[in-house]
Amino acid sequence: MSAIALVGAQWGDEGKGKTIDILASKADMVVRAQGGSNAGHTVVVGDVTYKLHLIPSGILYPDTVCVIGNGTVISPGVILKEMETLTERGISLKNLKIDARAHVILPYHVEIDKLSELMRGKGDIGTTKNGIGPCYMDKAERTGIRMCDFINPEVFREKLKFNLEIKNKIITAVYGGTALDFDAVYKEYCDYAARLAPFVCDTSVLVYEAIKADKDVLFEGAQGALLDLDVGTYPYVTSSHPTAGGFCVGAGIGPTLIKDVLGVGKAYTTRVGKGPFPTELDDETGERIRTVGAEFGTTTGRPRRCGWLDILILKFAVRVNGLTALAINKLDTLTGIEKLKICVAYEKNGQRIHDFPTDISELEGCKPVYIELDGWKEDITGVKSFDELPAAAKAYIECIEKESGCPVKMVGVGPDREQNLFR
Ligand code: GDP
Ligand code: IMO
Ligand code: MG
Repeated sequence: MSAIALVGAQWGDEGKGKTIDILASKADMVVRAQGGSNAGHTVVVGDVTYKLHLIPSGILYPDTVCVIGNGTVISPGVILKEMETLTERGISLKNLKIDARAHVILPYHVEIDKLSELMRGKGDIGTTKNGIGPCYMDKAERTGIRMCDFINPEVFREKLKFNLEIKNKIITAVYGGTALDFDAVYKEYCDYAARLAPFVCDTSVLVYEAIKADKDVLFEGAQGALLDLDVGTYPYVTSSHPTAGGFCVGAGIGPTLIKDVLGVGKAYTTRVGKGPFPTELDDETGERIRTVGAEFGTTTGRPRRCGWLDILILKFAVRVNGLTALAINKLDTLTGIEKLKICVAYEKNGQRIHDFPTDISELEGCKPVYIELDGWKEDITGVKSFDELPAAAKAYIECIEKESGCPVKMVGVGPDREQNLFR
């Protein structure tokens, strides 16, 4: 019984793909359980870079079973493109499994995502416009189309007809957009369905049996704790549950089957999309982190907002996920910055705040209280063990550990799967 869950501990893009790929070398199964192609997980192997959106980052190992669980939302065109790209690179898809209950993102979801963002104007969320929110809305409304419906042409036709009639009314009358043509959508998507059908099965059984048989199972989180629909910085969140609890619902297994929860964070903080960000750096240091860390979205290419590390966020991630360890990536990006800051509390109206606020209006006006640490100048990208790091870099990681109350077990010093220090 050795399932390990890996979650993003900040606002996403913490290097989960890289960390999963490293751990997957010893795993029998890697499972995605929430989100969809809004995720962009990068794996670097030598001079080859893989950008994965829906397919679990364990796919690079030929014997690892890769599961896309019932809690995900699947864009057929996007996943098929991803599958093609992997096949062209010689990666086998023989172990890819898609749950029959996963919901399908259809063109009207993407259209409504774009149109509703446009209508919100300055109050937009800054979504990836992949149709994620509208697809989860249909799931909650119980009108969604699941993989099991999708791969049955008759059931799909009926459900698509019913949905498209309503969605076209919304698209045209509410948003002033252009109606979608049933025949064109049906034809295109029936072709996708036929290509995906061989991968569809009940993955809850597979995951359960693997864990029961004492196989090494890894759950790959997408997004991050602060993007969680319930506990994140609502409404600037995604529409699923990127926190550890999301794995149970989204993979169809119970909480007693997960042993450890590893939170992946960066040595600083980033965020794409709108919403509050107390330690954001709107200055040269922020620009430097963005440039050196190549902080541009894997899915949308948008520049990521950058800022100092925020301990209140890591403590929040420890609490809401029950983290048993942290992996801190991108320590190398901070090399050369003379003085580094870590936020250990907020100050508002003369009061110190130690827990990340529940509501974004409470966050407004919160000023970060920083501690300052010495930086280091040495190139750390070739370092092979934690002990070899410069004293200041070690002290930085030890400070994260002490302030967050969670052991740091892995440290990233570069994007390659080799550039990782175990502790
Ligand atoms: P994910 O969504 O959490 O999987 O993260 P992304 O792949 O969207 O973004 C993380 C970026 O940082 C990718 O470009 C990774 O290749 C890169 N990366 C991961 N770990 C490290 C690290 O330790 N150092 C550096 N320099 N880059 C890293
Ligand atoms: P990975 O798995 C960073 C953000 C979007 C937006 C909000 C809602 O690569 O860490 P959505 O399209 O989900 O409705 O957008 O969530 N977002 C992410 N930010 N990393 C991600 O995934 C994200 N997935 C969604 O930018 O602010
Ligand atoms: Mg990403």
